[in-house]
Amino acid sequence: MSLENKVAIVTGAARGIGLAVAKRFLTDGAKVVIADVDDDAGQAAVDDLKQFGDVTYIHCNVAERLDVRNLVAETLNAYGDIDILVNNAGIVVGADFLELEEEDLDRVLGVNLKGTFLCSQAVARHLVERVQNGGEPGCIINMSSINSVLAIPNQIPYCVSKGGVAQLTRTTAVALAPYGIRVNAIGPGSIMTDMLASVNHDPAAKNRILSRTPMLRVGEPSEIAGVAAFLASSDSSYVTGQTIFADGGRLPLNYTVAVPDDL
Ligand SMILES: NC(=O)c1ccc[n+]([C@@H]2O[C@H](COP(=O)([O-])OP(=O)(O)OC[C@H]3O[C@@H](n4cnc5c(N)ncnc54)[C@H](O)[C@@H]3O)[C@@H](O)[C@H]2O)c1
Repeated sequence: MSLENKVAIVTGAARGIGLAVAKRFLTDGAKVVIADVDDDAGQAAVDDLKQFGDVTYIHCNVAERLDVRNLVAETLNAYGDIDILVNNAGIVVGADFLELEEEDLDRVLGVNLKGTFLCSQAVARHLVERVQNGGEPGCIINMSSINSVLAIPNQIPYCVSKGGVAQLTRTTAVALAPYGIRVNAIGPGSIMTDMLASVNHDPAAKNRILSRTPMLRVGEPSEIAGVAAFLASSDSSYVTGQTIFADGGRLPLNYTVAVPDDL
């Protein structure tokens, strides 16, 4: 198993993509800490996943420095080490540009961008110390998005935060490269989670997505987990500072696709 004996923290893993990453890491042999703000869903995730391996829930708002410090301390207390961090927690707040509230901008940047920074710095401090003591380097994986490079006019904080995550990935990767610590990102396209739930009941929204998706389907969380498993494993040992887009072909597409009525 490619992650045998590794310890991984996955933020925002009570549901959706993070939950799929946690499950995949467990089946690949890792011990997993699920960090989330939704305690009920986090505990339910642990109950669900414990059949696959050693998994724990820790409450953590990634936008709060003290919560993040506690997350690292509790993980080290429980497992003695940390090898992999997946910065997956993310939120969206939709508003047209002229109506966007300052506090909504702060909230989204606080979770998606500052949260990624806080968790990365806290875990990197542990990893660097470990390397300096002769240990293995470990790695960090950030959940970016196709919206790090594409624009949605009523999702300004989200797009800006993910653009920031892409650049944070590059800068952190360069800063930590001397220690052998790798930092990469995943840029999902449209993935079927609660974040995209409205699409199930809204044919116009579904059409909007599929007309921009050459593979003509929404992705599954497990398809993002597969990329995370690659980036967490030694198979990607010379890959750092990259964003791997798993988007059904959206970014290479220029024109839109004709969507059959029966899809
Ligand atoms: N679903 C998609 O189509 C899609 C596409 C591109 C990128 N992404 C990114 O993937 C990640 C996961 O998305 P998802 O669709 O699974 O979302 P989701 O809404 O289904 O799950 C997000 C999880 O993050 C948790 N969370 C929210 N704020 C938090 C905080 N402050 N601290 C800790 N946990 C917090 C939530 O409680 C929830 O469990 C996000 O970063 C998102 O931006 C998703």
